[in-house]
Amino acid sequence: IIASRLLTHVGKLPPMVQQLGCINRGLKVSVVGSVGGIGQPLSLLLKLNPDIEKLSLYDIKNTTGVGVDLSHINTRASVCPFEGKDGLKKAMDKADIVVVPAGLPRKPGMKREDLVDVNATVACEVAVAASEVCPGAMLAFITNPINVIVPIVATILKAKGTYDPNRLFGVTSLDVVRAQTFVADILNSNPQKVNIPVIGGHTGRTILPILSQCDPPFNGTVKEREELIKHIQNAGTEVVNAKDGLGSATLSMAFAASHFINALIRGIKGSKDQCVVECAYVESDVTEAQFFATPLVLGPQGIEQNTGLPELDDEERKALDFMLPILKESIEKGIKIGEDMM
Ligand code: NAI
Repeated sequence: IIASRLLTHVGKLPPMVQQLGCINRGLKVSVVGSVGGIGQPLSLLLKLNPDIEKLSLYDIKNTTGVGVDLSHINTRASVCPFEGKDGLKKAMDKADIVVVPAGLPRKPGMKREDLVDVNATVACEVAVAASEVCPGAMLAFITNPINVIVPIVATILKAKGTYDPNRLFGVTSLDVVRAQTFVADILNSNPQKVNIPVIGGHTGRTILPILSQCDPPFNGTVKEREELIKHIQNAGTEVVNAKDGLGSATLSMAFAASHFINALIRGIKGSKDQCVVECAYVESDVTEAQFFATPLVLGPQGIEQNTGLPELDDEERKALDFMLPILKESIEKGIKIGEDMM
């Protein structure tokens, strides 16, 4: 099944990614929305990755300044800034990875869902451009609401005949980063050593940290556990309120996204020393929701294996049952928007 699935997709990929093996050359990574609150620190962090040969920056305006600034850093990646309407395709041309922190962030009182109308247009532009100039690229969307945006993009790519479910990701790494940090705070341990899957989607109760599988184990009381889960689920709103009208999480998001992109790169490069596993929101048959975040093994062709649902205890199973209708509604909405846009 895997071989036939690969063959189906290989036909649509540009020559540079047609081999089933890994890529040995330096990579081209495009950041769409590179002047924004996430875009700038994310571009900085990606400039530090020695496997990136070309760091291509795109935004509607003011990309040149960010580009010149970054270009003075003495690391391998050459920085190419693009802006304006026709800059998008130039920036994404033959990219190996496109990461998208473009679009409106939340203000206090807003839900992520309130961003759909504006951000769907941005996602659509990127999906159409990707189909034309980099159909084999890995696409990583940060733009909210992730639960809706990823189905929109999948629908557009399908209509364009360039959809590869193994190469489209909604970036949910910040939920994992937050879970690691908050668990480590309680356990008084190193957050980098905390292993905890966060599954589902990226808003409210669709964010489901699986505390029963936490390593080191979390043995808090029922109340402590509930509070911790709420803290992880509401952490984005905590930042929005603390910034008091000046946007949502940018620095922690840039860190989380660079962590995810670096993992994608290790996968593309065929990391032999250790298996690359990250959670992300992708097309999935793990639950009845068509898109769902679970831990994924990443490799040269994107998702190598979806590890499926982690073991769940009774409370987690109830939380999963609660979230599925919410997630399914967002997905249906995204597919409908995507169809209407074509
Ligand atoms: P921001 O407003 O600071 O930056 C957004 C950038 O996107 C701006 O530079 C803007 O010019 C650019 N942009 C807008 N339309 C564009 C288009 N059509 N093409 C290219 N660039 C375009 O916003 P911020 O804080 O950087 O957030 C960006 C997105 O990331 C928001 O939708 C936000 O909700 C989302 N986000 C996602 C998180 C996640 O965990 N996935 C966490 C935090 C934020």
